[in-house]
Amino acid sequence: MTGTKKFIGIDLGTSSVKILLVDETGAILKAVTKDYPLAFPNPGWSEQEPADWWEACCTGIRELLADQDAADVKGIGCGGQMHGLVALDANDEVIRPAILWNDGRTAEETAWLNEKIGKEKLSKLTANIAFAGFTAPKILWMKNKEPDNFKRIAKIMLPKDYINYKLTGVHSCDYSDASGMLLLDVEHKCWSDEMLDICGIDKAVMPGLYESYECVGTVRPEIAEALGLPEGVKVAAGAGDNAAAAVGTGTVGDGDCNISLGTSGTIFISSDKFGVDPNNALHSFAHADGKYHLMGCMLSAASCNKWLCDEILKTQDYAAEQTDITDDKMGRNRVFFLPYLMGERSPINDTDARGTFTGLSMDTTRSDMVQAVLEGVAFAIRDSFEVARSLGIDIKRSKICGGGAKSPLWRKMIANVLGISLDIPKTEEGPGYGGAMLAMVCCGEFESVDACAEALLSVTETIEPDPEIAARYEEQYQKFSRIYPALKGVFPQLR
Ligand code: XUL
Repeated sequence: MTGTKKFIGIDLGTSSVKILLVDETGAILKAVTKDYPLAFPNPGWSEQEPADWWEACCTGIRELLADQDAADVKGIGCGGQMHGLVALDANDEVIRPAILWNDGRTAEETAWLNEKIGKEKLSKLTANIAFAGFTAPKILWMKNKEPDNFKRIAKIMLPKDYINYKLTGVHSCDYSDASGMLLLDVEHKCWSDEMLDICGIDKAVMPGLYESYECVGTVRPEIAEALGLPEGVKVAAGAGDNAAAAVGTGTVGDGDCNISLGTSGTIFISSDKFGVDPNNALHSFAHADGKYHLMGCMLSAASCNKWLCDEILKTQDYAAEQTDITDDKMGRNRVFFLPYLMGERSPINDTDARGTFTGLSMDTTRSDMVQAVLEGVAFAIRDSFEVARSLGIDIKRSKICGGGAKSPLWRKMIANVLGISLDIPKTEEGPGYGGAMLAMVCCGEFESVDACAEALLSVTETIEPDPEIAARYEEQYQKFSRIYPALKGVFPQLR
């Protein structure tokens, strides 16, 4: 059965925007991807031009609709890269390039927040402590290092909210994405006046808050005309990409888990109730289903493999690099890799940490090094799993999505390193599909995000861990766990 109504789901990622056209039965009718540049103007810095996002979204939506009956489009929902600081002046001009989620320039501001204001107070006000990638330290960085730019700020927004603003003219943010700013009282779902005071931010520059599935407005007529959309298309508030991916894989309700293997790597644990990790190693955020979640985020996941293949091995054929890594080699590699190419967030919170190969010898092969990179990412995900386990959260299975999850080898490694079953969802288009689902709920197709997930989603395959491989990986993980503590003191000297 094909549907008659259409919804657009946008995944505003770090390397590209992926745009999906989905009907109300959940069928993906068409997908378009548009790349944009990512700049690293200084070591550890990471920036993008919001104009590039908007341009890519416009070109992408026009291309998406070119051979479709656009008159049936009812709603748009966006899942976007989180934490990025987009600052607009009084004329709605972007003041400076957006400072992204994986930018590590705010070590000083992060330390000031955690040490001078204090982790306990931050956690009480916002349910989280400061991490360099969060938005509040970036605003403080602008205040300290670019005071003239800071004074010009008339609006603060997150990446996907910039797209929603361009579409509707409404200055909005949803609770899941707002959670990562360190300015939201996550439990009570409102801006923390005290945090705004601490950071010297006028509340008037902050966006209005919405649930992810609520409507923030309709596409402005002149924009609709330019994009080939009908009048009155509703725009849902949308979500941070991890919450949107969780919706898109059906990780909703209580105690479900999703692993996202994209540029970043995350574990996302949905929860009916608000809760905080007493050590704040996992983030405590609102979920796009109206409830809450805990999340561990590593800054470089699939991007480690992309870096190795694109920049070092100079190949685009990632699958060919993995063909030699057979079952008997899994858990027997003598080469280890720390995947900290952009520093690391969860759970070590260290902007100085860097990528490292250890254990190289004259007989090390290209394939050993590829294997070490894939395994290093899996071990780093396990680090966040261990934090969840220490909180008494017993994860027996997880969904998995993101570009890296397309590799059967990587999925198998992760199932064995974590010792859990991995469910492969019907669609791997996590955030974009979740965005389309939020648009459906926003337009009244379903009464809740849960109901939408129940109706549209299914699991196509489950990867079970193999007891022998898992046992070998257990030993390997114990070795991996000793490498970062041994090098921690060296990294600051490499700055
Ligand atoms: C989550 C995070 C990343 C980005 C990637 O806290 O920083 O997963 O959202 O787009």
